[in-house]
Amino acid sequence: MTSADRPRVFISRSLPGDEPLARVREAADVDLWEHERPPTVEELTAHSEGCDGLLTMLTERIDDALLDASPGVRVVATMAVGYDNIDIPAATERGVLVTNTPGVLTETTADLTFSLILAAARRLSEGERAVRDGEWGPWHPTWLLGHDVNGATLGIVGPGRIARAVAVRAAAFGMRVIYHGRRQVADFPGEQVSFDDLLATADFVSVHVPLTDETEGMFDAAVFAAMQPHSIFVNTARGPVVDQPALTSALREGRIAAAALDVMTPEPLAPDDPLLSAPNLLVVPHVGSATEQTRERMAALAVDGLLAGLRGDRPEHLVNPEAWERRP
Ligand code: DGY
Repeated sequence: MTSADRPRVFISRSLPGDEPLARVREAADVDLWEHERPPTVEELTAHSEGCDGLLTMLTERIDDALLDASPGVRVVATMAVGYDNIDIPAATERGVLVTNTPGVLTETTADLTFSLILAAARRLSEGERAVRDGEWGPWHPTWLLGHDVNGATLGIVGPGRIARAVAVRAAAFGMRVIYHGRRQVADFPGEQVSFDDLLATADFVSVHVPLTDETEGMFDAAVFAAMQPHSIFVNTARGPVVDQPALTSALREGRIAAAALDVMTPEPLAPDDPLLSAPNLLVVPHVGSATEQTRERMAALAVDGLLAGLRGDRPEHLVNPEAWERRP
């Protein structure tokens, strides 16, 4: 096959493992973005031009302008389960298939969520800082007291796959699980309650909703005011579902006890962001799915989606099935 017959794809970051990239190279001419930083909008637009497919990350915005500038693109494979960075109606309208990587990161992200629950409850980052800063005095019966996880109530908002895996871990730790979602979820290991009841009774509130117009800013001042003062807020979903200034104030004013966040707005968060001056805050840099095994599985699944779309097959994890009917 000559190069002219082969599809052309842009991959917006080096992929974990050798195999995923090798599989793309077998089927297509690859333009690989090898920088650590994401491409800027201009760079993404320039590299997408003339491409048939894109394999991108959650840092790349795929919208009308980008798709207009690269009309040959037939498939966008995102190496993430969340796809709020992609304008799905814009892709669907053009018959551009969008694929994601659900399932393969569920357990790993649930592990991170539970790590945050435990670390925030037991004040691990404060303890570590105290040891390193020479503030570790003699054993004292009232120093660094946390909150029991066992016997506590975990309130899950957004009972999807990852939430379910968190609930299973919570049950093993002796927690009671309650959840709130738009509808009851069959076999969810917890009791469905209203959002108000969840906020009023949970000792830990863990967020698992996707970022949509409906969920953006949903955790606002009123929500933090409705939570119990000893409660701990955990977010491993997306930063913008939280009104961050409201969370900062809630922590400063002691309206909730602590927060543990894997996701923030913006990402990366500047070291002088006001959020970081709030007390009782544990932050990690969006590492929910960051294990070697899981990132390799995500890359493999993203490549499966990309290659299926390029071959003209219906990808298994197609986010916008309507685009299948509209494909050129
Ligand atoms: C996702 O997949 O949406 C995560 O946020 C990154 O792994």
